Amino acid sequence: MHTIAVNSPSNIAFVKYWGQRDSHLTLPFNDSLSMNLSSCVTTVEMDVLDDPSIREMVITEYGTDSPRPAREGELRRVTEFYTVARTFLGSDRDFGFRIRSANSFPQKAGIASSASFFSAMALAFARAFEVNLEPKRLSVLARLSGSGSACRSIPDGFVLWHTGTGLDSSSSFAESIAEPDFWDIADVVIVVSSGEKKVSSVEGHMGAPSSPYFRARQLGLPETISDMKDAFLARDLSTFGPLMEQEAINFHAIMMSQVPPLFYWSGATLDVLREIVTMRAEGQEAYFTIDAGENVHVICRGSDAETVRGRIAAIPAVKDTIVNYPAVGARLV
Ligand code: DP6
Repeated sequence: MHTIAVNSPSNIAFVKYWGQRDSHLTLPFNDSLSMNLSSCVTTVEMDVLDDPSIREMVITEYGTDSPRPAREGELRRVTEFYTVARTFLGSDRDFGFRIRSANSFPQKAGIASSASFFSAMALAFARAFEVNLEPKRLSVLARLSGSGSACRSIPDGFVLWHTGTGLDSSSSFAESIAEPDFWDIADVVIVVSSGEKKVSSVEGHMGAPSSPYFRARQLGLPETISDMKDAFLARDLSTFGPLMEQEAINFHAIMMSQVPPLFYWSGATLDVLREIVTMRAEGQEAYFTIDAGENVHVICRGSDAETVRGRIAAIPAVKDTIVNYPAVGARLV
């Protein structure tokens, strides 16, 4: 027996992945752009065992001290991913595993915990099967976990996930467009709820094309991404921020108008958005984005993070805040 340990960050998408052109291969309809998060990290320790019949996992959730056994569905996804990884890595070996996983942040609340977990598992399985993959190939394996956003947690810093072409799985990979120290910005996560979301992203992706606005967003995205990349390379937050906010609003408009509709914003979400708008009017630059959950990610200059955090933490509905800086991707410990 030996043990493999991996740390992997969650990531926040500035341009969202929403909708799958192939659900089996987890292929997206559009490019997405993200940043790895320094304080939202999953740690995975995996004992690699000779007996392939042993498949166990325990999870230590945010805010608890003791681990709980993985639910049946959670263990099934990992076991399925093991089979996918074995085929992808071309191995005929078989091993058993005992996994301990712990998150530094609330699960399933709009901070992609499956991204950090499945990117960590992709690296852990590659290591266990003794295959050294370059980051692009490893990102493809992470994508095949079914949690598409996991591929963006493999490379370092700021990351672009390419749509790819047709059903060519290897063409849809993630790559770093800049190291973490390229741009001194922060993502202040505003936790207004740490309850688990009711509809999984997988179900949400299925419905995306049914929104009457889906096609309009797809048509506008190439220009949005190109403008956001230019603003990013110029480290121009005043241009980047409004484009990111508009993209987040478009993404939520699709969710709210797809069939069946998905409403993630709560009253608390809107309280936070209003405070951000007020802050901006007073000269404090900060911009929001929101994933498939009610928590808000506030993007601001790194030097402003504590001021922004303190200001928004004072809103009664806010339960917790997590300050993140750009971070490296999945790493063996
Ligand atoms: C809304 O299918 O990657 O976060 O498996 O739940 O993490 P999980 O989700 P996934 O879709 C996430 C989509 C998104 C936007 C994004 O991160 O691009």
